[in-house]
Amino acid sequence: MAIENAPSALPTDALAHHISDQAKRRTGNAVKAMLKFTNKPGVLSLAGGLPNPSFFAFKSLATTVPSPLLLKPEAPQNALINDAFVPQSPPDLASLFARALQYSMVDGLPEISDIANEIVSSVYRPAYPDWTVLPTTGNTDALYKTWITFCNPGEGVLAEEWTYSVMLSSILPLGLRPVPVQADADGMSSVALRNLLENWDTIAPKGLSRPHTLYLVPVGQNPTGTVMSMQRKREIYSICSKYDIIIIEDDPYYFMQFDDYGAKANGTATAASNGDNSWPESLQPTPQVSISSRPAIVSVLTPLDTSLDTDGRVIRLDSFSKTLAPGLRLGWVTCNKLFADRIYAMAEVTSQAPSGFSQTAVCTLWAQWGLSGYLSWLEEYMHIGLRTQYRVRRDAFKCAIRVRARPSLPRPRARDEGVGSMHARTFHDQRI
Ligand SMILES: Cc1ncc(COP(=O)(O)O)c(C=O)c1O
Repeated sequence: MAIENAPSALPTDALAHHISDQAKRRTGNAVKAMLKFTNKPGVLSLAGGLPNPSFFAFKSLATTVPSPLLLKPEAPQNALINDAFVPQSPPDLASLFARALQYSMVDGLPEISDIANEIVSSVYRPAYPDWTVLPTTGNTDALYKTWITFCNPGEGVLAEEWTYSVMLSSILPLGLRPVPVQADADGMSSVALRNLLENWDTIAPKGLSRPHTLYLVPVGQNPTGTVMSMQRKREIYSICSKYDIIIIEDDPYYFMQFDDYGAKANGTATAASNGDNSWPESLQPTPQVSISSRPAIVSVLTPLDTSLDTDGRVIRLDSFSKTLAPGLRLGWVTCNKLFADRIYAMAEVTSQAPSGFSQTAVCTLWAQWGLSGYLSWLEEYMHIGLRTQYRVRRDAFKCAIRVRARPSLPRPRARDEGVGSMHARTFHDQRI
């Protein structure tokens, strides 16, 4: 899991003061802790109220995913995602399904943690070796658990001045106060953040202590659609390090990064990006990534906060909602072990493990695709990758707006056109 030249294990005690009073009081449940031992084959436990698996009402689960064959170069050039569905018989999943349906530890099937570990170690590459993943029921729930675990009522939470409305709905009833930081086309402004923290004592609302948490949606920021540049991430990280702030990186759109509107594969602008109203070349289904460079998706994406995180102060939230299906309610948190243990303790008394049906479905898919199939599914490949599909739709939508709009209207910049973009001021009009 470790990357080369990475520092040694984190001294996470240095971060223990970020844990909330409520989370500190949570000592864990002894019966649930025993599941680690009693869920092993051959062990019959009378503790914990485990139903007899032979009485589960569901005996098998059939899932159908696009064949990995169709994610290979033989796929027809014009194949669309829906054409790519072919029935597959999954590997023997009977025992996996039975395990998934039983009560389990909060992290669910080890196979799901293995998938998350594989993605994190090959794609994200955190900067310290002892990072931990914890499967979740998606980012919305993981975010809520994060507030409870790291914030006490009355605290402030730093966030871009326009932010994800669900984040606000999540913190306000907990008595947390959003602290807006100005943002520009590159996301949260490091100048504004530094200025705010340096002058906190003079400009902060009365009685509000300097926040120790910062919320970011680095890719396809919701609602503005911006993608935070690596340089900006470095600046924000270094400020957070200086002021001992932990970063909550809510990143469900990480793989949905596109070239600027109208850009060709070679980076030159087309007519549409130069201002005329013709259809951009980017609408053409040009295969941009060859099979041999499949991991290219990794290199074209902006690296993550976790890749800078030498202190272990980033809590990264990942979700399969946008890449596989939101109804799965399946994702994971990546962070240092101390933080993961505290989030785990909260999950133990709330969501527990993600749904067994979802875990089985994703394990089945992974058995057929593996990481390379998953990356092929995502990348701009043969016009069937998700990124291609969404980029083409983005371009068509934007082109249609341009054609229709009065020429006098100001034209949005390409980077403002990300996923989830909407021009609505959120409820977040509190300003310092
Ligand atoms: C910024 C952001 N975070 C989280 C979510 C929800 O993620 P999940 O489906 O994993 O709960 C969304 C959108 O649905 C979002 O825009």
